[in-house]
Amino acid sequence: MENFEFFNPTKIIFGRKTEQKIGKVLEKDNIKRVLFVYGKSSIKYTGLYDRVVNLLKKEGIEFIEHGGVSPNPVLSHTKEGIEKVKKNKVEAILAVGGGSVIDEGKAIAVGAKHEEDIWEFFKRTKEIKKALPIYVILTLAATGSEMNGFAVITNEETEEKLSISSEHIFPKVSILNPELTFTVPSSYQAYAVVDTIAHMIEYYFTGSYCPNLQKRLILSLIKTAMETTEIILKEPQNYNARAEFMWTSTLALNGITRLGIKDGEFPNHLIAHALGALFDLPHGACLSIVIPAWMKWYKDKNKIQFEIFAKEIFNANEADEGIDSLKSWFKKIGAPVSLKDVRIAESDIIKIAKNAYNIAVIWGMAKKYSLEVLTEILKNAND
Ligand code: NZQ
Ligand code: ZN
Repeated sequence: MENFEFFNPTKIIFGRKTEQKIGKVLEKDNIKRVLFVYGKSSIKYTGLYDRVVNLLKKEGIEFIEHGGVSPNPVLSHTKEGIEKVKKNKVEAILAVGGGSVIDEGKAIAVGAKHEEDIWEFFKRTKEIKKALPIYVILTLAATGSEMNGFAVITNEETEEKLSISSEHIFPKVSILNPELTFTVPSSYQAYAVVDTIAHMIEYYFTGSYCPNLQKRLILSLIKTAMETTEIILKEPQNYNARAEFMWTSTLALNGITRLGIKDGEFPNHLIAHALGALFDLPHGACLSIVIPAWMKWYKDKNKIQFEIFAKEIFNANEADEGIDSLKSWFKKIGAPVSLKDVRIAESDIIKIAKNAYNIAVIWGMAKKYSLEVLTEILKNAND
C-alpha cells in the first residue's frame, strides 16, 4: 500500500426519523443562529421544510432562509448567501438537500470567514483558512458531499464549473435518513448511481497501483450500488435498498476507497464538469456520457483492471465487453450515453474540450489531458 493520511471528522447520524434530532444537535453545539440553505421546491412539497422549521423553533434556534439553490449551484446565488451570513451574524450553515445544496452551503461557509472573492478559492489561487461549521440533512444520496471536504460551484458568467477541497468544509454532523430519499425520482436515482460508480472507478482505473483490499472494497460497493438501484427503480419506497444505497454513495467519496492507491486522478469528472458548465446537465448524466467514451480511450493503459472489472461486475471475459455492458446498463436505467442523447451537436465538441482543458490546467492534469486528447475522448462520446 502507498503511504497515506486519513482525516474525516464528520459525525454521521443514520436511520429512520433521524432528522428529528437536528434541533438538539445544534443546541448541544451551542448554535443559536443558522443560515438554512435549501433547494428549489422538494423540501417544501415533501413536508420536510415544515418539520425542520418546527424543530428549530422548539430549540429556540433562529434561522435566516437561503432557499432556491439550483442543481449545479451557481456563484451569484452563493454570493447572496455569503452576504446574508455576514449581515446577520450567522454562526453555522444548515444545508437540507442534495449535493448542490450542501456544496453551496460549504462555499458560503468559506466565504463567510474570508474577505477575498470566493471564486479565488475555486481557481486555487487562494488557500482556505477557515469556515463556519456545516450541518446537513441529506435528501438525495449521490455525491458524498455529506461526508467529504469538497464543493463544486458553477460560475455562470465565465461558464466554469470548479471545485474546492479543504479540511475546513467537512460537515460537522450529517443526518442521513433513507426515508427522505423515497421521493427522489427514477431519473435522479439513475444519475446518482452513475455518480457513485464514477467516484470509485476514477482511482480504480487510473491508479498505477491499487491494493487488493481497495479493489475488493470498490467492486463490492459498485455491486451494491447497482443491485440496490435495480430494486429502488421498481420499489422507490424499499427502505433497505434506499438505506444501503445511501451509505454506499457516502462511502464512495468519503476518502476510504482511495486509500493506499498510487497516483489516482479524476479525468471523467474533469470532462463531466465541462459538460455541466456549458449545458447545465445533471452531473450524473454528464458522467454517463463521458465514462464509456473515456474507457474506450483509456482501457489499454490498465488492461488488467478493466478485465477484473468486466469479470467481477458483468461476468464478462474481455475489457471491451465490460465497457459495453456498463454502457448498456446505464442506458437500461435511463441515463444518457452519448452527446446525441442530450442533443449536443458534434460541432460543440471543441468548445467542450477547451472548457475541460481549462479545468485540466487548474487540476494539474494538462500534460496528460491535452486539447487533442480531450477532443478524441469527446468524439468517442458522439455515437
Ligand atoms: O432543488 P430541489 O427542489 O431540492 O430538487 C432537487 C434537484 O432538482 C431534487 N431533490 C433532492 N432531494 C430530493 C429531490 N427530489 C425529490 N425528493 C428528494 N428527496 O433532485 C435534484 C438534484 O439535486 P442535486 O442536489 O443537484 O443533486 P446531487 O446530489 O446529484 O448534486 C449534484 C451536484 O453536486 C456536485 C455536482 O457537480 C453537482 O453540482 N458534486 C459534488 C461533489 C462533492 N461535493 O463531493 C462530488 C460530485 O462528484 C459532484 O461533482
Ligand atoms: Zn461526481
